[in-house]
Amino acid sequence: MPNHALPDEDLLKRLADTLYQQGYLALPDALPPPLIRTLQNRIQALDNAAFHPAGIGREQDYRHLKRVRSDRIHWLDSHDPATRSYFDWMEALRLGLNRTLFLGLFDYECHFAWYPQGARYQTHLDAFRGNNNRRLSTVLYLNPDWQTGDGGELVIHAPLPEQAVRLPGLATPSATPELLRIQPLNATLVLFLSEVFPHEVLPAHKPRYSITGWFRVNTSSTRQADPPA
Ligand code: OGA
Ligand code: MN
Repeated sequence: MPNHALPDEDLLKRLADTLYQQGYLALPDALPPPLIRTLQNRIQALDNAAFHPAGIGREQDYRHLKRVRSDRIHWLDSHDPATRSYFDWMEALRLGLNRTLFLGLFDYECHFAWYPQGARYQTHLDAFRGNNNRRLSTVLYLNPDWQTGDGGELVIHAPLPEQAVRLPGLATPSATPELLRIQPLNATLVLFLSEVFPHEVLPAHKPRYSITGWFRVNTSSTRQADPPA
């Protein structure tokens, strides 16, 4: 009997095909409604103090950081029963993508993100090409009544020229053309290659909630401590 709480073969194949062709995708109504409700309840049960300012690399000037990124985050624990079904869904996605795309995705880490009114995240890469084990980024939105005009869109930009050297998390000085603009609508799932696509979150005009995560590959390099806590 199919398990309706997990992505089916047909969906996994569609996601893998699109990722193979363009390296990014946005899928509306991606996860089952009961699972989305569970995640909404979990995020609502957290008080503001459970969210902390996110770091970008190490030794960053805090004022600079706030200009680049003003969301607040709460790391998810894969052993927490409240979010178990989300990790199960992502594990099925990981196995499905590995089977068809040979990505070698090894594990998954994720956090809730809360963008208070006015918060944004300027153009950045999630991983530094060849030097970070984050391979595929995921974003799942948890905003039941998001309207056009509420801002907070995710903008995916074209890849930087190969020779451009960028540090992860830092705003890129010159933007590449816009490929896709995504409204943070409830249950929309976004996937993109972490090392390839610069992206930004436009200022949100009301509180905006999501789960951002990364599938990682198992690199032998131990010089990079990732993620920063
Ligand atoms: C991030 C990020 C995108 C979004 O947290 O690194 O780019 O739409 N999030 O929330
Ligand atoms: Mn990002």
